[in-house]
Amino acid sequence: MSAWLAIDFGTSNSLVAGAHEKGVFAPIPIDPSSPDPTIMKSVLYSLRRNEWSVGNEAISLYYEAGAEGRVLKSLKKFLPDPSFQGTQIHGQYYSLEDLLARLLRTMRERSEAHMGQDLKKVVLGHPALFSPQIEAHQRALSRLEKSAQIAGFEEIRFCPEPVAAAHNFAKILKSEKIVLVADFGGGTSDFTIIRLRPEGFTEQDVLSLGGISLAGDAFDGSIMEHAVAPFFGSKINFRMPMGSNTLNLPKALVRKLCSPADLMLLGKKEYIEFFRNLQQWSLDKGDAQAIERLELLIEERQGYHLFESIEEGKKMLSSHPKANVNYQYPGIDLDLSFDKAEFNEFSAKTIDAILGALDKTVADSGLSYDQIDLVCCTGGTARIPALNEGLISRLGAAKLELHLPFHAVVNGLAEHAYRYAKEG
Ligand SMILES: Nc1ncnc2c1ncn2[C@@H]1O[C@H](COP(=O)(O)OP(=O)(O)OP(=O)(O)O)[C@@H](O)[C@H]1O
Ligand SMILES: [Mg+2]
Repeated sequence: MSAWLAIDFGTSNSLVAGAHEKGVFAPIPIDPSSPDPTIMKSVLYSLRRNEWSVGNEAISLYYEAGAEGRVLKSLKKFLPDPSFQGTQIHGQYYSLEDLLARLLRTMRERSEAHMGQDLKKVVLGHPALFSPQIEAHQRALSRLEKSAQIAGFEEIRFCPEPVAAAHNFAKILKSEKIVLVADFGGGTSDFTIIRLRPEGFTEQDVLSLGGISLAGDAFDGSIMEHAVAPFFGSKINFRMPMGSNTLNLPKALVRKLCSPADLMLLGKKEYIEFFRNLQQWSLDKGDAQAIERLELLIEERQGYHLFESIEEGKKMLSSHPKANVNYQYPGIDLDLSFDKAEFNEFSAKTIDAILGALDKTVADSGLSYDQIDLVCCTGGTARIPALNEGLISRLGAAKLELHLPFHAVVNGLAEHAYRYAKEG
C-alpha cells in the first residue's frame, strides 16, 4: 500500500496525518507526553552533546535540568533568512537544515511506529509567503526540502498551508462559496481567497494567496519590547570611558531580545563582557541593575522560560480583561500586569501589518470584502481579540463562521495527500 504522510510543520506546533489509497488517516499521536498527543511542540532540547529530545519531553527536561543545556524554538522562521546558516551547540556545528530535520525525523519515525510501516513520502505544508521576496521564499522551500531529505523522506511534495486548510473547510460546506481562509499561526499569518465547493476545488479556484511573517511570536515580542525588555535594560543610557556621547543598547541586540527564536540563540560569549562593562558605564543605578538582570537572562539561558511566561500572559488576554506576566529566577523578579487596551497598543504595528497583508490578499483576488461569503479561521493566534475585531470590521460578524484552531491544516494536507496516494 502506498501511504503518504501529511506534515503541518509549524513554527510553534507540528502535526502529522496522512493518506493511503483507501482514504485519509487521522492525526497521529506523535507526542505521547503532550496534553493533545497529536500536537507536538516544535521545540528541540539538548542537555549534552549528541543527546536530543523534542516536544513536551524537551521542555520538561529543560526545566528538570534547571535550564542547563540548549533549548531551541521557532527555528522555522530562519528558513528564508540567508544570514542564518546554523549554530554551534555544545561545541558542534549544526546547520539549520540538520536541526529542523531532527524534528521531521522524529515525526516520521513515530508515525512509522504507530502505523507499523515505512513512511517515506510526504506532503509538507508551507506558509503562503515565507518572505515577500520570491527568491527568499524559494530559498526557504529548498531548505525545507533538504531538511525533509535529511529526515529520511524520499518523495516530497508541498502545499501552501491556507490552501490545505481550505480542503478541510470545503467538506463542511453545503453549497459553493467564496471563502477567505485565514491561518494565524506562531510565525506567519497566511491567507487565501478561494472558491470552495463541498466536493473540493481546483487550482483555478485559488483566487489569491498571501501573508506575512508576523503572528504569535511577534505578539509575544511586542509584549517583550514594550513591557518586559525595559526591565532588562533595553532603554538604558550609558557613556563609554573618555566618551562624551550618551549611548543606548544596540538596536540589533534589542531586536534579538524581542524575538523568542533569536533570544535562544544569543551567544553568551559575545555579550557577557559587554554587559559587565555596561554595568560600569551606566549613568544610573537602576540601569546597572537592569543590565545585571540582562546578564543573568543570557548567561543562565533563561530566554525560553521568560517567553513562556510572556506567552501565558498573552493567551490569558484572549479570554480575560487583564493579564499577568509572572517570572521568577534568583536575581530576577518580574511581576507585571497589563490590560487589553495596553496590549493593543504594544502590538498595534503587528496588528496593522497583518490586517494590511489581508487587505492586499483580498485586493489581489480582484474581489471586494462584500463579495466574500464566509471566513474560515485557523491557528492559535486567531484567538487574539484585535485580529477578530479586524475581521469583523471588514466582513461583519455573520460571515465569521468557523474556527478550528490546530487541526485544519494537517487534515487538509491529508486530503491533499490522498490525491497522491490514489495515483500510487
Ligand atoms: N488562546 C490564545 N490566545 C492567543 N494566542 C494563542 C492562544 N493559544 C495559542 N496561541 C498562539 O498561537 C500560536 C501557535 O499557533 P499555531 O499552532 O497555529 O502555530 P504554528 O502552526 O505552529 O505556526 P505557523 O503556522 O505560523 O508556522 C502561538 O504563538 C501561541 O502563543
Ligand atoms: Mg500553522
